[in-house]
Amino acid sequence: MSVDNLHNFEPNPDDESNRLVDANADGDDMLVEGALRPRTLDAFIGQQRVKDQLGLVLAASSARGRAADHVLLAGPPGLGKTTLSMIIAAELGMPLRITSGPALQHAGDLAAVLSSLVPGEVLFLDEIHRMSRMAEEMLYLAMEDFRVDIIVGKGPGATAIPLELPPFTLVGATTRAGLLPGPLRDRFGFTAHMDFYEADDIHAILVRSAALLGVPLAPDAAAEIAKRSRGTPRVANRLLRRVRDYAQVKADGNVDLALARAALELYEVDEIGLDRLDRAVLDALLRRFGGGPVGLSTLAVAVGEESETVETVCEPFLVRSGFLARTPRGRVATPAAWQHLGLTPAPGTPFAAATLPFEAETGSDLEQE
Ligand SMILES: Nc1ncnc2c1ncn2[C@@H]1O[C@H](COP(=O)(O)OP(=O)(O)OP(=O)(O)O)[C@@H](O)[C@H]1O
Ligand SMILES: [Mg+2]
Repeated sequence: MSVDNLHNFEPNPDDESNRLVDANADGDDMLVEGALRPRTLDAFIGQQRVKDQLGLVLAASSARGRAADHVLLAGPPGLGKTTLSMIIAAELGMPLRITSGPALQHAGDLAAVLSSLVPGEVLFLDEIHRMSRMAEEMLYLAMEDFRVDIIVGKGPGATAIPLELPPFTLVGATTRAGLLPGPLRDRFGFTAHMDFYEADDIHAILVRSAALLGVPLAPDAAAEIAKRSRGTPRVANRLLRRVRDYAQVKADGNVDLALARAALELYEVDEIGLDRLDRAVLDALLRRFGGGPVGLSTLAVAVGEESETVETVCEPFLVRSGFLARTPRGRVATPAAWQHLGLTPAPGTPFAAATLPFEAETGSDLEQE
C-alpha cells in the first residue's frame, strides 16, 4: 500500500518527541502501561537469569521473615524496571512506595519519605543516579543501619538527632549504573542487570499484550512486530497499539502479517526497527561522507538535527546494531550499514571494524572535532 492513497492517517514525521521507536515513555505510554504490566514474577516474560536470581532473593527473605535485601535494577529504558519493582512488592506481599531521584533534592525530602515507611515496605527509587549528594549520604546510613541523622540547626551549633527507621527494602532503578557512586552500589544486596530481550520473548510479550487489549493478532504478525521492536517491551507495546489503530481504521481490526507490514511501513519503522531519523543519519553517513569518519556535529547538520538528538536518540541503537562506530576520528559506518541501505561502498572505504573495535555507547567524548 502506498502512502498516497491514505487520508488523514499520516503520522507527523517531524515530531521527534513522538518517535515510535523511542524506548522512553511518553504520555500515551504512561496511560496504558499500567494495564499491560505483568503482576507476578511468573507472568514476567524473558530476562530468565534476572528472574531466577530475584526469585531466590525474595524466597530467602520470606524464609528468614525479614525485609528483603536492597535490589538495584540496572538497564536501558523500557525493559521492565518499574514493572519488576511492583512485582517485588507484590511477591513480598508488602506495600510499595514510589519516588525518584529528581524528587529528592534535599536530604529532608528523603528523611520525610523514609520516616513514614511501614515495616517491610518496598521503597522504589527510580532514576536513583539523579539523587542529590546530600540525599545520597543519608541513604547510605538508612540502607545499612535503618537509621537517619536529622540535622537540627546550622553552623557550629548544629546537632544530629538519630532517627530509627522501620526495616524496608529499597529497590533502586537506573538507566546509568555507571554513574552510581561505588559506596551506593555496594549497599545493594543484589543487582539485576537487565538486557535487551530476545525476539522470541518480545513475541510472547506482544501476544500477551494483544490478548489484554483485545487485538486479534496473527502469530506471524506478532513475529513481524517483534523484529522491529528493538528488543524493548515498551517499543513493542507501542508498535502494537499503532498497528491496532491502523487495523481498526483501514481494515476490520484483525492484524495479519500483510497489515502489520503495511502499518509499520506507513509509520516508517523498517524491518529491523530503524525509523526515519535513524535511516537519515545512516544515509548521510554513507552517501555524503563515504562512510566516514565524520564528526558528530557535521553529521547532525547534514540531517538537520541537533548533535544531541543524533547522539542520544539515534546513535545508541545504531551502535548496538553494529551499523555505526564512534572512533577518535569521528563516526564510521560498518559494512552492515552499507548492506542494510542496499548500497555498495566505494573501493578503499575505511570500515569501522577494520580501524577500531566498536566503542561502547558512552564513547562519544572520544571524538575530537
Ligand atoms: N518482561 C515483560 N513482560 C511483559 N511486559 C513487559 C515486560 N517488561 C516490560 N514490559 C512492559 O513494558 C512497559 C515498560 O516497562 P517499564 O515501565 O517497567 O520499563 P522501565 O524499565 O521502568 O523503563 P524506564 O527506564 O523508562 O523507567 C510496561 O508497559 C510493561 O508492561
Ligand atoms: Mg520505569
